[in-house]
Amino acid sequence: MSDGNVAHRLVQCPLMKSNRRELESVRVDQRFALELAYPVLFTEQMFESGNGALREVLTADSGRARVMVVIDGGLADAQPDLASAVRGYFAAHATALELVGEPLVVQGGEQAKSGTHVVDRVLAQLFAARMDRHAYLLALGGGAMLDAVGYAAALFHRGMRLVRAPSTVLAQDDAGIGVKNGVNAFGVKNALGTFAPPHAVINDFDLLRTLPLRDHIAGLAEAIKVALIRDAAFFDWIEREADALRSRDSEATRYVIQRCAELHLAHIRGAGDPYETGSARPLDFGHWSAHKLELLSEHQLRHGEAVAIGMALDTRYAQLRGALDEAACERVLRTIARVGLPLTHSALALTEADGKRAVLRGIEEFREHLGGRLTVTLLEAVGRGVEVHDIDEVTMERAIALLG
Ligand SMILES: NC(=O)c1ccc[n+]([C@@H]2O[C@H](COP(=O)([O-])OP(=O)(O)OC[C@H]3O[C@@H](n4cnc5c(N)ncnc54)[C@H](O)[C@@H]3O)[C@@H](O)[C@H]2O)c1
Ligand SMILES: [Zn+2]
Repeated sequence: MSDGNVAHRLVQCPLMKSNRRELESVRVDQRFALELAYPVLFTEQMFESGNGALREVLTADSGRARVMVVIDGGLADAQPDLASAVRGYFAAHATALELVGEPLVVQGGEQAKSGTHVVDRVLAQLFAARMDRHAYLLALGGGAMLDAVGYAAALFHRGMRLVRAPSTVLAQDDAGIGVKNGVNAFGVKNALGTFAPPHAVINDFDLLRTLPLRDHIAGLAEAIKVALIRDAAFFDWIEREADALRSRDSEATRYVIQRCAELHLAHIRGAGDPYETGSARPLDFGHWSAHKLELLSEHQLRHGEAVAIGMALDTRYAQLRGALDEAACERVLRTIARVGLPLTHSALALTEADGKRAVLRGIEEFREHLGGRLTVTLLEAVGRGVEVHDIDEVTMERAIALLG
């Protein structure tokens, strides 16, 4: 008997058939698909009462929205008027929006996702305010804080509605727009976390105005990354506009964020593995060493800076292996440096007790994090990535030496 997707197989009672006991299993095939969708809006001054973007995303599913707001501590310090702007917006839209309590300020930066202290704090506040899973959590901040708050939102009653307003370049072009969250634990980056699409993302360009130059530049690394593996024309543009990007030209910055976000979203949507069940992770070009370098440098290196070094390393490696020509390699390294990103760091020189170069342990740790077979994306041309399944450590040592 078959009923839609569910197949039933009726099994005769074993005792009725014979005296011999036969063990049979019943299998019911369960299968369904979920369509997931969320908007990513690009705007400015999201808390100006005349800007309808936030109100729209908060009221799309229900009439009146209960909203708790969480703000990254670094952002709150840099923009002391932000909490009152939030209050003003909710007051102006009081018929549709209810602000639950005062905006909660939590620690920002990598510390936010070191363990579960921010997660615990947000969850405690959600329960104290008797929020339910139809209510909204609006999180304003950098990628690290969004990862921790996103994890809390995914856990609360098994998942509540999360609206992210990323406030760094890296969070607007990458970390804040995707489907992942997580915290570092047990000495492992992103050891705990879930795949949980947000309800919506609002990229407010004005939130970036107080971002330190170093963080602005760090966020450009993910744009270079996605251009290198997906879009040669975008890389040409970055190369041409490197000086404008480095000096925070606003038109160039808006474009680089939007194009980078579009390419990331297209990948999540179209590459067939949004929850990364396979071993391949093309968007993690440059990341096997980046994750390790972040930890080895005790987070002195920003994520984007570590990715820049990781890309430089894997680009030089690809050239030494004969996969990428010398001119393309030089172009990539020059562009990374021209936007102000580092090509090397002292953490590359660290060794472990057995004399092995510590960063090379990142290869095996990367495999463990992905599960299954090691799969690393390298470049075969600007704009085109290729997957490989092993890394020759002798050549990688030479690549490290050449980075200086
Ligand atoms: N979930 C994902 O898919 C994903 C993808 C890429 C990266 N990430 C994670 O993102 C994190 C890096 O995020 P990031 O680069 O945004 O850095 P970050 O979150 O560490 O923020 C950097 C610093 O800027 C401060 N800050 C934030 N916004 C500010 C503003 N507008 N003005 C002034 N200060 C501000 C923060 O308090 C922090 O001190 C890493 O932990 C990385 O693993 C996650
Ligand atoms: Zn990254």
